[in-house]
Amino acid sequence: MKLESVWPEQSFDCEGWRGEMASRIAAFDWSDTAMGPIDRWSKSLRATVQLLLASPVPLVMLWGRAGTMIYNDAYAGFAGGRHPFLLGKPVEEGWPEIAAFNRNVVDTCLSGATLSYADKRLTLHRNGQPEDVWMDLHYSPVAEDDGHPAGVIAVVVETTRKVLAEDKLLKLTQTLERRVAEAVAARVEAEERFRQVQKLEAIGNLTGGVAHDFNNVLQIISANLQLIELATRDKPELTRRLHVMSEAVARGGKLAAQMLAFARRQPLNPAVVNPAKLVADMCEFLQRALPESIKLKTSVSYDAWNLFVDRHQLENALLNLVINSRDAIAQGGNILLEVENATLGDANTAGLALPAGDYVRLAVTDDGAGMPDSVKARMFEPFYSTKAEGQGTGLGLSMVFGFVSQSAGCVDVKTKVGEGTTVALYFPRCTQSESQDLDGARPGASRGGETVLVVEDDADVRLSTIDMLAQLGYKVLSAEDADAALAVLRKNPKVDLLFSDVVMPGTIRADALAKIASAPPYNAAVVFASGYTRDIIFHEGRLDEGVVLLKKPFTFDDLARTVRNALDTRH
Ligand SMILES: Nc1ncnc2c1ncn2[C@@H]1O[C@H](COP(=O)(O)OP(=O)(O)OP(=O)(O)O)[C@@H](O)[C@H]1O
Ligand SMILES: [Mg+2]
Repeated sequence: MKLESVWPEQSFDCEGWRGEMASRIAAFDWSDTAMGPIDRWSKSLRATVQLLLASPVPLVMLWGRAGTMIYNDAYAGFAGGRHPFLLGKPVEEGWPEIAAFNRNVVDTCLSGATLSYADKRLTLHRNGQPEDVWMDLHYSPVAEDDGHPAGVIAVVVETTRKVLAEDKLLKLTQTLERRVAEAVAARVEAEERFRQVQKLEAIGNLTGGVAHDFNNVLQIISANLQLIELATRDKPELTRRLHVMSEAVARGGKLAAQMLAFARRQPLNPAVVNPAKLVADMCEFLQRALPESIKLKTSVSYDAWNLFVDRHQLENALLNLVINSRDAIAQGGNILLEVENATLGDANTAGLALPAGDYVRLAVTDDGAGMPDSVKARMFEPFYSTKAEGQGTGLGLSMVFGFVSQSAGCVDVKTKVGEGTTVALYFPRCTQSESQDLDGARPGASRGGETVLVVEDDADVRLSTIDMLAQLGYKVLSAEDADAALAVLRKNPKVDLLFSDVVMPGTIRADALAKIASAPPYNAAVVFASGYTRDIIFHEGRLDEGVVLLKKPFTFDDLARTVRNALDTRH
């Protein structure tokens, strides 16, 4: 039904009077309400209802003291599930959850005053659930024909979305400063870490290079000393002096090995190792390295996964860490040695230079002095030590760092001055089972009559090696590089063993030469002698099948045993 039919004297067909609410208002029986039957509505009431219906702004009129509700289409949208129940209802019944608020509105406006609220927060049950709603509310009195206030017209503009958006924005702005500071700090830390890596890389290259040449010098001295020793067995005075010199060479060799370890270029002999067993085996020995005032505890997870590492170097690393902890404990304290599995996801590798995956974590924790930032920043540098002259070389952590990195793991250090330090070593999990320890089963050195081809570019090293092998009863051929070695091999196909340096000049690489020599028709055994390796003979940290490595500087006995063993186990 159209309003016009209710008010026949209305001559204008106004579009704004034709919505859903116009029909509902026309159809509604108003007789029992404060407004009375529709056909008796006053001019003023009719005019206000028409104004309300034509407005695109949500408007509701509360008529009389009861506040009988009559509203437009826009307000129906605002009312949600309460529409159309609200039409013709007293306002306190329509919105019981805010009855007191509306009572005040009606009373105030019927007394002729107005009310306004900006972003007023009220809790409404529009759709059965309580929800916080923000609104701009403006209330003003509506006059009857005689001029006295008889109702209230309310402009209801919901501002919930705007308020929430502003709130969010405000919070964002308030935390912006903190977030920028955090981002900057993270960036500075990442840059610092990168600088540290670069610095260690540069020092590593330098140290590795020096150690390599140093090793060759030691090899020459060592080999010749041993040859002299053999020739002067009947002169005890000389033997004593030679012995002192050999010990000095051994010390130099150890230093070179430590430097190479840091440079990640020490020749490693990785094997499958059970870390729980390794730590259990080491415990007694470690305990002996500690004074009684320091207690060593272990927490070993017995289902710890296997590792593929150089067992000797791992023992060495743990010993270094325990000794560092010992030195950090002044009066008395505790050291904890832990072994546990660690599965790193993408999130928790943050800070560790490792891809996600399965790792074994070996950690040494002490409650000693801890490290200030200035020490922590330099702890991996070779020759960096805070200990008194003669107490520390500063190579301990450098070696640990180099060895762990070379074994595809990483070192994580947490330390606090006055509280203590945890140095954790992470190694990738190895799914193979532990191999038999062949060390004990090796046959002792014996003299042979086989032919050995020595390939070495440093003439002095070559000559001393030839001498030693000759002393051992081998027939020795030699070449100064792999190209020359190949020519020798072709002329002497009965070579039984190739004894080769790893890094040499020439067009053929040592590993290629080894492949040829070990294949038919030669079928020679191969021993590499090296004090310095890159990945030429190591692939993914392992030696190629059938390749034996002798570390420089080597002793007469090392050479004898390794060559004999390689010949005896040749297929
Ligand atoms: N557990 C620890 N607690 C406190 N400081 C430590 C700890 N471990 C290492 N440091 C600090 O790091 C420095 C370097 O350690 P690193 O093991 O490389 O050398 P060092 O122990 O001084 O000498 P070296 O190990 O060659 O005998 C130490 O001098 C010490 O200041
Ligand atoms: Mg140390």
